[in-house]
Amino acid sequence: MLQRNSRLRLAEKERNLMRAACRFNAEVMDFIRPHVLPGVKTADLDRMIHQYTLDHGHVPACLGYPGEKFAFPKSCCISVNDVICHGIPGAYELKPGDIVNVDLTSIVDGWHGDQSETFIIGEPEDVDDLARAVTQCAFDCLHISIQALEPGCRVSAIGEVIVDHVRKTYGDFGIVEKYVGHGIGADFHQAPNVPHVPSAQARRDRLHPGICFTIEPMINGGTIKSEIDSRDGWTVRTKDGKPSAQFEHTILMTEDGPEIMTLTENGPQYGHKF
Ligand code: MF3
Ligand code: CO
Ligand code: CO
Repeated sequence: MLQRNSRLRLAEKERNLMRAACRFNAEVMDFIRPHVLPGVKTADLDRMIHQYTLDHGHVPACLGYPGEKFAFPKSCCISVNDVICHGIPGAYELKPGDIVNVDLTSIVDGWHGDQSETFIIGEPEDVDDLARAVTQCAFDCLHISIQALEPGCRVSAIGEVIVDHVRKTYGDFGIVEKYVGHGIGADFHQAPNVPHVPSAQARRDRLHPGICFTIEPMINGGTIKSEIDSRDGWTVRTKDGKPSAQFEHTILMTEDGPEIMTLTENGPQYGHKF
């Protein structure tokens, strides 16, 4: 256990490998962002992401990722409206008023970068207030929880900030508990679990310098209850059909505080209004 945990603390050389993986993953997001438009099929976005990744000599981590029933069949997750996460790209054509999350993970020289963004399709007036509010809420939860981190802090600091913000600003929006952030590195998903509401384990786990992890809050307009599509074994939907939004970054805790490794100047920055 001790040895496993100490393996999670990366030395400078490994930190630079993670920086390179995350920089590439963020470059893929920069590449796909202008293509997330009305009339585009989610399978088209997946194909572009797949090809871009291979063209640069890297590997899409989602493709073939093992699941309970089936391996994941595509190179990214695309989750529209009431899909919370793990949406499978397919024939669905984006239309004005949709909110769509694109979740990308690349493997670069054996190291993983993982991030997601939710996009509002069409003009601002096309999207209803609830869909916009969950999008804003998920974005703010990601960034204010990053701001709250200090070297050696408890993982539960993340959930505390998120619960506090959501309850104060959005009343009873659902903060998804079943799907969580995670440690990341040579493995896609590793210790520690990073829940978006405080848990007993997260109060024990600490974010020491050298630890890499994701924060990826999923915020629902209604219930946190969800259902996995029994036909594809992956797509997670809200039980009440209300919209859900998510944002994700991969973060390295350094001696000076958190470093967002998957952020570029082209993506939405802290304070962005949707
Ligand atoms: N990218 C997701 C995450 O943030 C995991 C997707 S696994 C897949 O952890 F198999 F669905 F792609
Ligand atoms: Co992800
Ligand atoms: Co993740």
